[in-house]
Amino acid sequence: MRKQIAAANWKMNLNLEEATGLLKNILQAPLQLLPGREVIFAVPFPFIPMAAEKSVGKNNIFIAAQNCSNKKSGAYTGETAAFMLQSVGVQYIIIGHSERREYFHETNAMLAEIIDQCFLHQLQPLFCCGEPLSVREEGKEMDYVARQLAESLFHLTPEQMQQVVIAYEPIWAIGTGKTATTAQAQEMHAFIRQQLEKKYGHHIAQSVSILYGGSVKAANAKELFSQPDVDGGLVGGASLQAAEFITIIQSLD
Ligand code: PGA
Repeated sequence: MRKQIAAANWKMNLNLEEATGLLKNILQAPLQLLPGREVIFAVPFPFIPMAAEKSVGKNNIFIAAQNCSNKKSGAYTGETAAFMLQSVGVQYIIIGHSERREYFHETNAMLAEIIDQCFLHQLQPLFCCGEPLSVREEGKEMDYVARQLAESLFHLTPEQMQQVVIAYEPIWAIGTGKTATTAQAQEMHAFIRQQLEKKYGHHIAQSVSILYGGSVKAANAKELFSQPDVDGGLVGGASLQAAEFITIIQSLD
């Protein structure tokens, strides 16, 4: 069966002391991570060694970077390459978060290149997709997401696709306190799975975890995660509070 995942996206928050304290408080809790359940911490680059060290020997806890370069190595000042992230204990990379698409102009084609860099270095992509409000208001959200999947992911082999985690994050629900209804989330997740099935077949479509992101919190996690095609969440704001995120982890189906 596919994995149920709670992924924290700390974004550009916290200093080292705060980050260390937050991680310690979460990891001390009785998380009850049965087989098939995972927790991922996508921490800012400077905190990766600390987070990797704290998670050593802990079952089903993984560290993610929030981005990585589409270039292999070389004269790209300010960039961080996949091989570097692998060497400091990262297992997952968030790819194509809407904030990166919007503020840093990452395109579907560039994201496909980042994904290829990940696979060259045994890093698992946590690929984000999702539509802006204007697209949903026009009723074109399915076409929009289908295109994101096709242009960034569908060059992968079936074996590679099986290692991708997808996060559906409607942009209008990120950091706004506005969550998609469980019905809206389930509808899009089922659609994404259907796209995977068309391209890669039933077995692979059923094995890829699809997370929901956008104002997930302790109070709504259980209901969202209970939907048949929602396999957990990618959590921003609520992952910065230990008690909130612990409850979200404990809400995994
Ligand atoms: P949010 O962020 O939970 O604060 O809405 C989610 C995300 O951007 O991944």
